[in-house]
Amino acid sequence: MPYDGYKVLIVDDNEGNIVVLNEILGQLKQCEITSVTTGNEALKQILKKDFNLVILDIKLPDIDGYDLARVLKSHKRTIDIPIIFCSAIFTADEWVKKGFELGAIDYLVKPIREEQLMNKIQFYLSLHEKQTGLMHELLHTNQELEKQNRAKSEFLANMSHEIRTPMNGVLGMAQLLQLTELSDEQKDFVNILISSGKSLLKIINDILDYSKLEAGKVEMEEIEFNLKELVREMVIPFIVEAEKKNLQVTYNIGGEISDSLIGDSYRLVQILNNLLSNALKFTHCGSVQLEVSLLRRQENTLLLQFVVRDTGIGIPASKVDVIFGKFIQGDSSTTKNFGGTGLGLAISKSLVAIMAGTIRVESQENSGSSFILEIPFKISTEH
Ligand SMILES: Nc1ncnc2c1ncn2[C@@H]1O[C@H](COP(=O)(O)OP(=O)(O)OP(=O)(O)O)[C@@H](O)[C@H]1O
Ligand SMILES: [Mg+2]
Repeated sequence: MPYDGYKVLIVDDNEGNIVVLNEILGQLKQCEITSVTTGNEALKQILKKDFNLVILDIKLPDIDGYDLARVLKSHKRTIDIPIIFCSAIFTADEWVKKGFELGAIDYLVKPIREEQLMNKIQFYLSLHEKQTGLMHELLHTNQELEKQNRAKSEFLANMSHEIRTPMNGVLGMAQLLQLTELSDEQKDFVNILISSGKSLLKIINDILDYSKLEAGKVEMEEIEFNLKELVREMVIPFIVEAEKKNLQVTYNIGGEISDSLIGDSYRLVQILNNLLSNALKFTHCGSVQLEVSLLRRQENTLLLQFVVRDTGIGIPASKVDVIFGKFIQGDSSTTKNFGGTGLGLAISKSLVAIMAGTIRVESQENSGSSFILEIPFKISTEH
């Protein structure tokens, strides 16, 4: 962004003063000067151009200079334009004070002394030049950061993709090996191989998903699906898993919800999987419940609420706001005790936002957590 000159507006009802000010400021090549004799004309010019400085007489035939300053300071586009008041009559301290209170950066007393005005304007000019330079640098740095962030996301996405393919090969082979005749010790080895492979694949998939979300490359699909079937199929593996920990997993879907919905069922399952696996992971005794209910119906859209409630370790109040951030876990011992990378909730939050929904948590330490999702789905008009 090149430095593009300095636009000054002179507002003075005395033609003689305008000539003097023009002569003085005309010596500065970078200045583009506009002069007007009334407040209304000044407002018209301000609407047309972005000025860098306004030199404002106080006594004007229509609006007085103070009122004009008030207008400038009350609008977002003009609030930052520096104002220098200039008066031959209002020179008492109280008027000068009033000028500064209205946001003026300077107050000149007429007759104007050429040298004084030149010094001041040159000072403001150099400030403006520095400000323009800084803005330019900031913009450039921001663009550079965005570029680097995109490059990082693309690198992560590519790497994860490259690792995922051979990892699937390793897992597939390990699963085939499991079907062959093996000694007990060999079976143990293969089981460890498979479970480690699955953990690694989950991390790779999460990183791939998150980098795609960060790069804005995830789009939602609109597919017709059966909510009851979807939830039932999704919950079964968790019921089996929970039995190993002596936990109970239950689910309930409000009867008033139509079976056939339209939306991205794959992403809905992904979010619920994240929430249910967290609930199971962070609960040592008691139960995990998934409750689906209808919040609102508007024409052919249903706003559904999904609550995943557990009786687990809960989340301290100080962490509730941060756990949706990427790579954030409850505390430093979480990875050691529970594994994971802290991406599940960050991915879920981003997905929910793309689905035009919301996610929040209510939790009490040592007694449990409820993750509450609200997502709109269309209903199929054919049913
Ligand atoms: N149901 C829950 N009960 C208690 N703490 C939870 C629960 N769900 C999430 N948390 C806290 O929020 C943190 C972030 O959750 P998130 O799902 O993003 O990461 P993770 O489960 O640790 O790892 P990942 O999901 O990547 O495997 C968790 O580490 C945990 O501290
Ligand atoms: Mg998780």
